[in-house]
Amino acid sequence: MQADLERILFDEATIHRRLDELAEKISHDYRDRELTIIAILNGSVILMADLLRRIPLPLKLDCLSVASYHGGIRSAGEPVLRQAFLPVLTGRHVLILDDILDSGVTLATVREKLENAGPVSIRVCVLLKKKKIRTRSIEADYVGFEIADEFVVGYGLDYMERYRNLPCIGVLRKDLITGKK
Ligand code: IMP
Ligand code: MG
Repeated sequence: MQADLERILFDEATIHRRLDELAEKISHDYRDRELTIIAILNGSVILMADLLRRIPLPLKLDCLSVASYHGGIRSAGEPVLRQAFLPVLTGRHVLILDDILDSGVTLATVREKLENAGPVSIRVCVLLKKKKIRTRSIEADYVGFEIADEFVVGYGLDYMERYRNLPCIGVLRKDLITGKK
């Protein structure tokens, strides 16, 4: 799989070192609040497992399954939430976890829906943030790494559902991307 990468941006050790820092900051910020993590699947599944084990606080975890890509490299229209019911968040401090902030459409949509579920506070944590002009303006409160506007895979991020299990993050070779939109 690594041979499909044009170049590696972050190897496993670099990602883990950054997660140590992020986890320390989150643990400090939520030290006297009860945290509810809402992880957006599938992209954040590896991040969720590695980050949460570094946060030594009592917390609740819920997952939302959201489809935004439908197989291509650009989000297509409104993201689809596969859950029939959203978690009850009344009185909760919510931290949304996602793999990457790209156009902002997914996170803005999810955030809006969760705001209607009655939390006390909502923040956003992403592993990656692309430097670009977004379709929806949304800021992340915790960011692992800022990257250029390139298509990346690995560490949870996929292309056509592949590469999620790569332990590093890299730029996918352009010749492997079919039907660029
Ligand atoms: P957004 O709605 O455009 O911000 O993107 C939301 C989702 O698109 C992310 O949660 C990812 O699953 C996916 N995505 C965006 N950029 C990339 C990328 O470079 N590689 C793989 N998936 C991506
Ligand atoms: Mg995806």
